[in-house]
Amino acid sequence: MSAEPAGKGELRLCARLGLEGQAAEALLAAMRAGVSSRGAVVLTAKAPPDYVPPFDCAELNAPWLPPHVFVPAEGVKPTAHADYAAGLYYSLDLSSCWESACLAEVPPPASSLDMCAAPGGKTMLMAARFGAGNHTANEVHPGRRGILRQNLEQCGMPQVRVAGNRPDQWARSGETFDLLLVDAPCSGQSLLCKGIRNPGCLSSSMVNGNAKRQKGIMLAAVQCVNPGGHIVYTTCTYDPEENEKVIAYILKRIPGWSAVEVPLLAPFRSQLAAFPAYRLLPAHGFGAGGFCCLLKKDK
Ligand SMILES: C[S@@+](CC[C@H](N)C(=O)[O-])C[C@H]1O[C@@H](n2cnc3c(N)ncnc32)[C@H](O)[C@@H]1O
Repeated sequence: MSAEPAGKGELRLCARLGLEGQAAEALLAAMRAGVSSRGAVVLTAKAPPDYVPPFDCAELNAPWLPPHVFVPAEGVKPTAHADYAAGLYYSLDLSSCWESACLAEVPPPASSLDMCAAPGGKTMLMAARFGAGNHTANEVHPGRRGILRQNLEQCGMPQVRVAGNRPDQWARSGETFDLLLVDAPCSGQSLLCKGIRNPGCLSSSMVNGNAKRQKGIMLAAVQCVNPGGHIVYTTCTYDPEENEKVIAYILKRIPGWSAVEVPLLAPFRSQLAAFPAYRLLPAHGFGAGGFCCLLKKDK
């Protein structure tokens, strides 16, 4: 273990992840140092064909990186360029782009819903791949919904329908979609790796409370998907309770769903589930990390 004695929450997290020795030490060191952030930009609807960002970009050995995502070289501040203010690209953490590799396994959707959309990163990534066609960006929190709307306008997507329903209201509405993005509210343990204070994110009560909410969101989400459609479930936290266990809960209770292999993400395959699910850790070198799982509804 690292020089600083590990706290109860840290030890519990490492045990749940099955991390020991150097692997556990690497995660704890990253959470304490708070320097694992890695920037990225995704091109928006405003970017002309063949546009490349006006700054040096890093060459990464990352086959999962979509062609519309660029990684600024060390020291570059993409938000300082006029093209950012003009909305030609949207800036986010590289580990928030990683899971969009799931979309490589999804046919272009005729309709899509981002159920937890603000400030808009996953909607931008989805639109960069498929276009914003018949897309709804939903955000329950009114203040965050305003920011979402602003970001969509700035990035040339004013046609996206913005909504503010709770997941259970979507489920009751009877409206269904080919693709749902569920970037669920979570304990946000990876924020520590970006140097963002997040007191209590390792506590049982925080993790269990979030897991309960995530299960509720997913129970609603599965009711909003067309036969043959998909859900991309993602979080920016490491704990299996909020990740593999939420998916296992859904797969056990809701017939007609399966988790889908994402070959591009094979190096990140979770060993904590019998079904395909993926976890990015700071040690992978692509930012603070997170979890994703692609689910498919039978036809
Ligand atoms: C991880 S953030 C989403 C980030 C966003 N997808 C992006 O890429 O920019 C989770 C969002 O879920 C919203 N949220 C909180 N509680 C919720 C609930 N019970 N149901 C649905 N969304 C919720 C939060 O307001 C927050 O905006």
